[in-house]
Amino acid sequence: MVKVEIDSKYDSWAKIYNQYWGLEYCQHNLPPFEKLLKQYNILPNAKLLDLCCGTGHMAQHLINQGYQVTGLDISESMLQYARKNAPNANFILDDARFFNLPSSFDTVISPSGSLNHFMSLEELKEVFMRVYDALLDNGVFLFGLNLEEGYKSWNGSLTDGDVQDNYAWACCDSYNAEEKIAQFKITIFELVENVWQRLDINNLVKPYAPLEIISILENIGFTNISVYDQQGNLAGEECNRFAIFAGFKFVNK
Ligand SMILES: C[S@@+](CC[C@H](N)C(=O)[O-])C[C@H]1O[C@@H](n2cnc3c(N)ncnc32)[C@H](O)[C@@H]1O
Repeated sequence: MVKVEIDSKYDSWAKIYNQYWGLEYCQHNLPPFEKLLKQYNILPNAKLLDLCCGTGHMAQHLINQGYQVTGLDISESMLQYARKNAPNANFILDDARFFNLPSSFDTVISPSGSLNHFMSLEELKEVFMRVYDALLDNGVFLFGLNLEEGYKSWNGSLTDGDVQDNYAWACCDSYNAEEKIAQFKITIFELVENVWQRLDINNLVKPYAPLEIISILENIGFTNISVYDQQGNLAGEECNRFAIFAGFKFVNK
C-alpha cells in the first residue's frame, strides 16, 4: 500500500470548488474529451482512469455513458465530494507522481489543466511514467494542459467569487512571465461561531510548451502522439492557450 503524505491545497477549498467550479469545468471539458474518446474508439464499458479527478463531475458523466471510471486525486476533501457526485465510480486517494496501479486501464484521462500543477518537467515525467504503467497495451492517454498564452492574461485582477451570509470568497489570478509561474489565489472569509475567519490559499501552476511535452512522452515510450485544441480538433499554430495531448502505449511484442 502506498503511504500518501497529504499536503493538498485543494483540501481547504474543496467546498467552494465543488459548488462553483466542478460542474462548470466538466461542462467545458466534456465535449472535446467525448469527441476524442469516440475518435480513439474507446467504447462504453472501457476502463478509464481520471487522473486528478477533483470532485468527480466528469467521472459521473462518463459513467452515464457506460464507462467504468476510477478517479485518483491527492485531496481527500475533493474525493469526499467526488464519492457523492459519482457514487458508482471507484476513487483512490494518491499522488499522481507516485501512484502504482497494475496495467488495467484502456484509457487515462486528465481534463482541465490539472497537470499544470506539476512544477517541473521532471515531475511531469514521473506522472507520465505512472500513467504508462497503468495503461493496458495499446491504451490511450488523453490529457489537457494550459500553454503559456493562456496564462499571459492573468494580470492580478479578481476573476471569480461570491458573497453569502456566512461566507465570502474571491479568486485572483496572476502570471510571472520571467519565472513562467502562474498563481491563482483563493481567499475565503467564513463565519465560524460568530467569528469571521480568513483563509488564503496560493495555488501555483506552470505552463509547458507542446514540443517539450511530446519529447518526454516519446522518451517514456508513448507513440502516435497528437495535439488537439480546446474543441478536440487537430491543433494548428493558433492553438497556444490550451491543448489536449493524446498518445498510445504501444508495446511491440
Ligand atoms: C483544477 S482541479 C481539476 C479537477 C478535475 N479534473 C476537474 O476537471 O474538475 C485539479 C485537481 O488536481 C488535484 N491534484 C493536484 N496535485 C495532485 C497530485 N500531486 N496528485 C493527484 N492529484 C493532484 C487537486 O487535488 C485537484 O482536485
